[in-house]
Amino acid sequence: MHKLYRHYKNKLYRVKGFTKHSETLEGMVHYEALYENPTARFWSRPKKMFFGTVKMEDGREVPRFAPVEADVRTVTSPTENDLKICEDLMASFFGFVDAQDFRETLKLKTKVCLLIASFEGKPVGFKLGYAQDAGEFYSWLGGTHPDYQRLGIAGRLMKTQYDWCKAQGFKKIRTKTENRHRAMLRLNLRQGFQIIGTQQSSEHLKVILEKAVI
Ligand SMILES: CC(C)(COP(=O)(O)OP(=O)(O)OC[C@H]1O[C@@H](n2cnc3c(N)ncnc32)[C@H](O)[C@@H]1OP(=O)(O)O)[C@@H](O)C(=O)NCCC(=O)NCCS
Repeated sequence: MHKLYRHYKNKLYRVKGFTKHSETLEGMVHYEALYENPTARFWSRPKKMFFGTVKMEDGREVPRFAPVEADVRTVTSPTENDLKICEDLMASFFGFVDAQDFRETLKLKTKVCLLIASFEGKPVGFKLGYAQDAGEFYSWLGGTHPDYQRLGIAGRLMKTQYDWCKAQGFKKIRTKTENRHRAMLRLNLRQGFQIIGTQQSSEHLKVILEKAVI
């Protein structure tokens, strides 16, 4: 199900799901305004109308709601601006960022692949990894800005990373997720990663996952 739509009056909405009108059984779309709407945050509209068209003053027929796709940019040599984007996003979804550690760790890595997802030029998510050895790619860090979660962005970045790894000849993708990061764990499992082990750090249990690139 596509989730992000732009209304013809230019506002963004997230489709939450489809429902039935309790009296008429008409198919409805349940959706959420992704901006401050003083009237209501959640809306319902008949499916037929949601996916229909609107006649503009100049006579043109346009979709009432048009699907919006994130742009994904692939970066193999991150610039200062790219690193800043990652740091700002980490601050948004982790609530903190250790920029010095992030930069020092990244400097030591080879075959870096940074994927940045944006909506109309605004970075909303990233996924970053590097070569672990000749055949194995390590998917290190990533996330989506809280305002743009549950729109399929992390899933899209994961698929793009997989395609990039395949094109580069990697045979496996490995990742680690703390047990408490349930959303990430669930996403990895749904994208075909297998749990191959665990690792206990002083604070958290990490789950080690792997996916074959075929
Ligand atoms: C985990 C995370 C990256 C998911 O990003 P996202 O762009 O919202 O993910 P998607 O919209 O592509 O979600 C794909 C699937 O992942 C799972 N998922 C995502 N968020 C979830 C949540 N909050 N709870 C449960 N499952 C979730 C669902 O299966 C979802 O599919 P669905 O929406 O059809 O049910 C995001 O929640 C995040 O940035 N979290 C904080 C950072 C983090 O934990 N990073 C991992 C450590 S490096």
